[in-house]
Amino acid sequence: MSKILIKNIKGLVQAGEQIPSVRKGAEMKQLDMISNAYLALEDGEVIAYGPMTEWEGIIDWRGVEIVDADGCFVLPAFIDSHTHTVFAKTREEEFVDRIHGLSYEEIAAKGGGILNSARKLSELSEDELFHSAKTRIERIIQTGTGALEIKSGYGLSLEGELKMLRVIKRLKECMPIAIKATFLGAHAFPAEFKDNKRAYIDLIINEMLPAIHTEQLADYIDVFCERNYFSVLDMEEVLKAGIALGLKPKVHVNQFSILGGVQKAVELGAISVDHLEEIDENDIQALKSSNTIPTLLPGCSHFLSIPFGDARRIISAGLPLALASDFNPGSSPNYDLMTILSLACIKQKMTPEEGINALTINAAAALELSDSHGKIAIGRKSPIMLTKEIPSLAYLAYAFGEQHVQRIFI
Ligand code: NIG
Ligand code: FE
Repeated sequence: MSKILIKNIKGLVQAGEQIPSVRKGAEMKQLDMISNAYLALEDGEVIAYGPMTEWEGIIDWRGVEIVDADGCFVLPAFIDSHTHTVFAKTREEEFVDRIHGLSYEEIAAKGGGILNSARKLSELSEDELFHSAKTRIERIIQTGTGALEIKSGYGLSLEGELKMLRVIKRLKECMPIAIKATFLGAHAFPAEFKDNKRAYIDLIINEMLPAIHTEQLADYIDVFCERNYFSVLDMEEVLKAGIALGLKPKVHVNQFSILGGVQKAVELGAISVDHLEEIDENDIQALKSSNTIPTLLPGCSHFLSIPFGDARRIISAGLPLALASDFNPGSSPNYDLMTILSLACIKQKMTPEEGINALTINAAAALELSDSHGKIAIGRKSPIMLTKEIPSLAYLAYAFGEQHVQRIFI
């Protein structure tokens, strides 16, 4: 049995029994914090917390590891609700092409982009993919991430998609954090289906989905709904086929253009709609009538030099907002959610409190982990992070690029 007492915590953040499982609109500015606090964990489970003035005599402290957190903050680990963490190779050559003036969409039209990753993935075995992703996740955890969504979508064939999802299943079984799997067969049309898109959609619906269902490989279904990728009708068809097999939608929409995908995804009960670099009033109204969590990915905007999602407009409409990394080799090669927090504050004018809500409780809602993740409360066992000594909580967002995490308790 391991007992840990973290004492003299400068600020114990998002700890409380009454914290809601999602914060919307103006509520997103609220962040619970107990100053000069303690937190007691037994085998990773929260057994007591509160102000230092109250800690003595609360539990039997014999055999306890004492961590002095003087000057440090403690928060629930962040949740990354949108990543493409399983991939074969990084894509620096496209990065350099973009420096020379090509756009992400132009690179994709030349057979680069997602198809480039799919080619590279087809050359690796399941084991090779598994080991590289495992190493990545070990690093991701060290940056303060305590739950992760991972998408397929670089297979784009029956074998390739199954290979990716089997890797994600193995990662779920062996990594110490919660992982959710999303099937993204509808990520791009493979070159051999360029002139027969119908056949690829049939392959997704008639072959990939049943095989994934048989092996129980996915929790969610995703579609890249975008010009030159999948239309709203394509998305509807694929999502409905997934829903019929028990998968819930979480989708890529409005990255470059507004096609009406947000309304359709909301209508189909999407858990989240992600990207939203472009958004209009119809999207806002559709979201207002739903429990779907809009999720912004500022790492992608930064890396591709495309517009940042309009966080202020979404929050002003009274909606909840989550943030995620979109970690992937093409449009967002960064998994550090502290960087995402900084970008959201600097570029999207979110306050640090809003950003932390977006990366904890609202991100947990975007991954249906509200019952276990996103806040610190008695009986919970989800990962907790301890920062280094920092002057204030806002410093996490302010000192961009600095490594703020000292330790993560899992
Ligand atoms: O979320 N936009 C679609 N999919 C990924 C990028 C995939 C890639 O370029 O490899 C994204 O940005
Ligand atoms: Fe993505």
